[in-house]
Amino acid sequence: MITPVLLCGGSGTRLWPLSRKSYPKQFTELVGAESLFQASARRFASDGFAAPLVVTGDAFRFIVTKQLDGIGLTAGGVLIEPDGRNTAPAAIAAALHIAAQDPDGLMLLAPSDHAMEDTEGFVRAIELGRAAALDGRIVTFGIQPDRPETGYGWLEAGEVTHEGVKALNRFLEKPDLGAATELLADSNNLWNAGIFLARASTLIEAFKTHAPRIHDTVAAALGASRKDLDFIRIDEALWAGVPEDSIDFAVMEKADNVSVVPYDGPWTDLGSWQAVWSETVKDSHGNGLSLGATAIDCENSLLRSEDEGIELVGIGLRNMVAIAMKDAVMVADMSDSQNVKTAVSALKKKG
Ligand code: GDD
Ligand code: MG
Repeated sequence: MITPVLLCGGSGTRLWPLSRKSYPKQFTELVGAESLFQASARRFASDGFAAPLVVTGDAFRFIVTKQLDGIGLTAGGVLIEPDGRNTAPAAIAAALHIAAQDPDGLMLLAPSDHAMEDTEGFVRAIELGRAAALDGRIVTFGIQPDRPETGYGWLEAGEVTHEGVKALNRFLEKPDLGAATELLADSNNLWNAGIFLARASTLIEAFKTHAPRIHDTVAAALGASRKDLDFIRIDEALWAGVPEDSIDFAVMEKADNVSVVPYDGPWTDLGSWQAVWSETVKDSHGNGLSLGATAIDCENSLLRSEDEGIELVGIGLRNMVAIAMKDAVMVADMSDSQNVKTAVSALKKKG
């Protein structure tokens, strides 16, 4: 059995104003009728998977249980981080928790901000990775790139080691544009899907070697955790000493036992309004419109009214995003929509 570990503690600021600190994007119905978190939980709810272990923040614990309940699933455990320290602490906390029951158990670290329509195809890719993971490899999944994306990790695939699996020569997290442009030129280079398959013991060893402080501080905080209803609350005082980092920078760039399964099915990280627009059903002029939104002479724009009482009308817009909420309205050029993050920081400073 593989234990899916659903990471859903991020704040998703690039999708403000829909995504909020108190209710981030992974719990909203961004595309389709389910939240991204629900879609992720359902993706790994078939034969061969154990009940998911969820790692999330205190503020989201009841959203998590309610949303799982809404699709007929129950968590195998919910680990509560006192605050978000990025994905490295969340991942090692999950590995240590799983290892306490089954040290060599297989785990699948899965983010909850993706659209991946071909679940069966992806589950087949996971099956391909199983033998390598059982051999002590950390298995990544590689997506064929179509642009010099600087917001992803890049994987340089090497020799075939198992059926459908290649060794990884290099992992480069979020390169600058020059490096990404060079990477795009070589067809051996793939995007990191952000999903990892490994034995719990393999991940723990990798953290001990490459990120020992994160390993030790998280182990101490998890060791002092306490039960609250069915939630496992990690100790707040000890968690305060845990360094913040992503698993990609802390471990994946440094580890030498990483493999990659190339995956050519549909995959999108819904990390920006532009990505949401590309996944939205559009009218014949390329506009993605919510209920309550009307486009007159608009092209390739995303107009979403997120409040029943608000009519949103766009006239003569080209490549624009407009999101209307009860308490905030955001209008941006589509190509600038990554900069929403900057706007959110500026608003925070304003108080
Ligand atoms: N529990 C928990 N705690 N979850 C977190 C935290 C945290 O502190 N921070 C982020 N997450 C969750 C997010 O909610 C998301 O589902 C997932 O972890 C990944 O975090 P992102 O912040 O979205 O990562 P990224 O998109 O910048 O980069 C990762 O994914 C890319 C592909 O989508 C990397 O793995 C890249 O290499 C990869 O290309
Ligand atoms: Mg992401």
